Amino acid sequence: MGRLEGKRAIVTGAASGIGRASALLFAREGAAVLAVDRTRDAVEETAAQIAAAGGRSVAMAADAGNEAEVQAYVARAIAEFGGLDVVYANAGISGGMVPLFEQTVEHWQEILRVNLIGPFLALKHAGQHMVKQKSGAIVCTASVAGLRANAGGNPYSASKAGIISLVQTAANSFFGTGVRVNAVCPGLIETGMTKPIFEYARGRGTEANLGQLNPLGRYGEPEEIAAMAAFLASDEASYVNGQAIAVDGGLSSTHPFRRPRP
Ligand SMILES: NC(=O)c1ccc[n+]([C@@H]2O[C@H](COP(=O)([O-])OP(=O)(O)OC[C@H]3O[C@@H](n4cnc5c(N)ncnc54)[C@H](O)[C@@H]3O)[C@@H](O)[C@H]2O)c1
Repeated sequence: MGRLEGKRAIVTGAASGIGRASALLFAREGAAVLAVDRTRDAVEETAAQIAAAGGRSVAMAADAGNEAEVQAYVARAIAEFGGLDVVYANAGISGGMVPLFEQTVEHWQEILRVNLIGPFLALKHAGQHMVKQKSGAIVCTASVAGLRANAGGNPYSASKAGIISLVQTAANSFFGTGVRVNAVCPGLIETGMTKPIFEYARGRGTEANLGQLNPLGRYGEPEEIAAMAAFLASDEASYVNGQAIAVDGGLSSTHPFRRPRP
């Protein structure tokens, strides 16, 4: 029996990278998955891959940072599956690396809208349903960029630090309800978001340097984040609440360190 057998789940940002890997894994573990993304064709492809593997999935195009669309995706999951047990609020944008003095309020607002207000809206609208049924698991994607500097731009990093705080405060807002809220903090993972970094390194022949700052000495795969999200979504994590767990090869365990040459 799968670890998510019988669960009704939503995964946002499910058209690519970590979200697609998570939707596929959740379904393999037995969940019915509403795969949500703003990119319709690609999220339909995720649902088709799940169906081809024998799982149950419905695709839905929605903006994860828009309140009416979040309400709509929560309502759709409940209508399709007869209830809702898990939300993985994973959709995010990087915003690129814009120098501080060139950043505009609009740039900040868009990144905070998608990366931080989106998860808040998932908590608000899915959470109400979960409180009534007295159970549920909400997982958000934060980042090592939310822990300290040099893993993303200023607004991106602030949005991810905000998620770490949000899961702590929201877990307490759900006090006594049986609803758990946690986050995963990925390190460097090869996905659509980091494609420019990987293409640049491959173009220069420096790919071997990617991920060299963490003790495992490599970058991560989307499936390695999906594994943590599935654990946090499952009943195996029944006593894990209000946590932001780094899955980063140990990057966040270290001070900056230059390894001696062999
Ligand atoms: N890749 C990394 O190294 C890394 C590291 C730390 C955290 N993250 C986080 O992981 C999450 C997933 O990103 P990824 O790396 O898989 O990138 P990705 O670009 O491959 O996937 C992100 C998905 O989110 C979707 N999306 C973006 N804005 C949306 C919106 N407003 N509404 C609905 N869908 C939207 C995109 O269409 C895309 O399919 C993000 O929150 C990102 O910040 C990634």
